[in-house]
Amino acid sequence: METALVVGGGGREHAIVRALAPDCTVYVCASNRNPGVAQLAAGVETLSETDPTAVADYAETVGADVAVIGPESALAAGVADTLEDRGVFAFGPSAENARLETDKAFQRQFMRENDILGCPAFETFADADSAADYVESTEGDVAVKPTGLTGGKGVRVTGDQVTAEEAADYIRTSDWDDWVIEDRLVGEEFTVQAFVANGEVRPTPAVQDHKRAYEGDEGPNTGGMGSYTDGSLTLPFLTREEYDDAVAILEATVDALDGYTGVLYGQFMLTSVGIFVIEFNARFGDPEAMNTLPALETPLADVIRTARDGDSLPDLKFATLATVCKYAVPAGYPTAPEGGVRIEVDEESVGEALLYYASVENRPDGLYTTTSRSFAVVGRGDTIAAAEAEAEDGLTAMGDGLRARHDVGSEALVERRVNHASDLRAAGSE
Ligand code: AMP
Ligand code: GLY
Repeated sequence: METALVVGGGGREHAIVRALAPDCTVYVCASNRNPGVAQLAAGVETLSETDPTAVADYAETVGADVAVIGPESALAAGVADTLEDRGVFAFGPSAENARLETDKAFQRQFMRENDILGCPAFETFADADSAADYVESTEGDVAVKPTGLTGGKGVRVTGDQVTAEEAADYIRTSDWDDWVIEDRLVGEEFTVQAFVANGEVRPTPAVQDHKRAYEGDEGPNTGGMGSYTDGSLTLPFLTREEYDDAVAILEATVDALDGYTGVLYGQFMLTSVGIFVIEFNARFGDPEAMNTLPALETPLADVIRTARDGDSLPDLKFATLATVCKYAVPAGYPTAPEGGVRIEVDEESVGEALLYYASVENRPDGLYTTTSRSFAVVGRGDTIAAAEAEAEDGLTAMGDGLRARHDVGSEALVERRVNHASDLRAAGSE
């Protein structure tokens, strides 16, 4: 494998490109021009990443023999299918297998039909009025989810963010027809991602993302404000047994699918009665990829090459490094993000932290915000506290017009998670 194409232009793809670049020539195509990726790639093409023909044409032009697909929108559009048809190995599932992420009703029905553990009780609805009526009439708290892609911002949870009336109103006034309504899960969230190919599953260390916009887990859901790992497979609040339960769910899912290739991402909830699945994604997480890939000592290129060749995937080696990732986002993100604001990112003051550009617009006179996350810094260290301090140092690169969640990876926050998980386990054993 000599030439790889990476599809997508966010922080996640910056991390993928950085992991591949030492071992192969990397080209990138995306809807935006990511300045970090442009420094590392042999070429960057601006095109619609949901246009399979345009992506495949570019893969052919640059002579790519493999492609790694970052965003779910590209998977949903069938980019992997078209690349495969055109003789380019796609590390990313077919549109059919990506339904595990792109169609939440399919995802839950798939879990039910295949007896995959960790599926909450759920109902599906094909029109908004019946979904809203159901929310108003049902007892107990629920999560209401449009079945399609919403960038992580479509879910509302009653008894947490909204009342049942507000959730019903949200459903009636939205543009979506198809809904999943499921039992609210109460617990502590974590992510486990695995490389999957040729029927094999190679899990990576657990990560905790922070979906809420503001410190203390307040405010609306975002694409993810930051995340941490602990230099081992588990997290301070997660036991090895609980991690293994999550991996077993990923393995059972892959067994039940037909020839899944790519990254399978499980978002899990540790509850008082065990591990539940919040959702599956058919790709690396963003920000989670920025925790996972810098600690991966096995060359990413080896994983992709063996996947392509039908060989056994390598056993993965990870550095015993804790990581803390913090995103800088435009003011007002996610509800009223101020796009088009000129920002300074002082690359020098990032220090030892890793800098990952995400959704910024590179104009001749400098960088401007879009309506999405702008850039991330990742600190690394022997402990989460050391990694957090390095990430905070890195955030001094953030000029006016941007904000971050400074509490991600902080000692107080991690301690709260540990106490919460102990309370859950205690409640479960009563
Ligand atoms: P998703 O878009 O499926 O990742 O959901 C976004 C967020 O909604 C998750 O990270 C959870 O915080 C929350 N969520 C989703 N499903 C549930 C559920 N069944 N119970 C409680 N919270 C949920
Ligand atoms: N971190 C959440 C996601 O990638 O969807």
